[in-house]
Amino acid sequence: MSGTKLYEGKAKILFTTDDPNILLSRYKDDATAFNALKKGTITKKGEVNCAVTSHIFQYLATKGIPTHFIKQVSPTEMQVAAVKILPIEVVVRNIAAGSICKRLGLEQGKQLQQPLVEFFYKNDDLGDPLITDDHIAMLELATIDQVAQLKQMALEINQHLQAFFDRCNLTLVDFKIEIGVDASGKLILADEISPDTCRLWDNTIADPTARIMDKDRFRQDLGNVAEAYQEVMQRVLAAIG
Ligand code: TMP
Ligand code: ASP
Repeated sequence: MSGTKLYEGKAKILFTTDDPNILLSRYKDDATAFNALKKGTITKKGEVNCAVTSHIFQYLATKGIPTHFIKQVSPTEMQVAAVKILPIEVVVRNIAAGSICKRLGLEQGKQLQQPLVEFFYKNDDLGDPLITDDHIAMLELATIDQVAQLKQMALEINQHLQAFFDRCNLTLVDFKIEIGVDASGKLILADEISPDTCRLWDNTIADPTARIMDKDRFRQDLGNVAEAYQEVMQRVLAAIG
């Protein structure tokens, strides 16, 4: 049972429910890249990302990470707690790939000495620019104290996710999370964690292109996108928490 549409994003739609504290998040098959310059669909992506996010958020909750996940209510829908999402994309990188290679001239696949946390301003009109702690304070996107908490939370989540994906025979190259604030001011992991928002490389394959199991297959037109998403879902659902 869904109420009125609150917000439609590129990959999900948020609906109200009868309970003002609970929202319904519906995952779509639509895929975009490069700030929606590239558009398409990935067969069953909604189901994969809903199932993977449900599983991972429940796993992280067992590790003490607060998340907005309540329960999965259909193959493509989950109930989530209503939180105020900070307009910041928090990216954690273990291996250089994607935008950091372009920005800093790093070689794709280079292992970073320690995980790197980056912040991007969630603003489509500006193309989600990279921002520093000082930009966040200046733009009043979050307090200095919240920024410190965001970093700590992101690194903790990275440790749990690395261990989890290792059991799936997948290397967690990098990922993006979004954080919400609840009524009491507590920071809560929100949005999704899926092959759309992570780079995942198959440990059982050596070829650098063939081993890509995430949205980079769509971004770079590598083919077998839906198949890679299905494989990630199967491994995630089979992994022991
Ligand atoms: P990037 O290398 O393009 O900065 O991406 C870093 C990580 O963030 C990668 O795992 C993909 C994810 N990501 C999103 O989830 N949404 C986005 O809009 C972008 C640009 C990246
Ligand atoms: N989701 C983003 C977009 O369309 C970008 C990406 O994931 O590459 O614009």
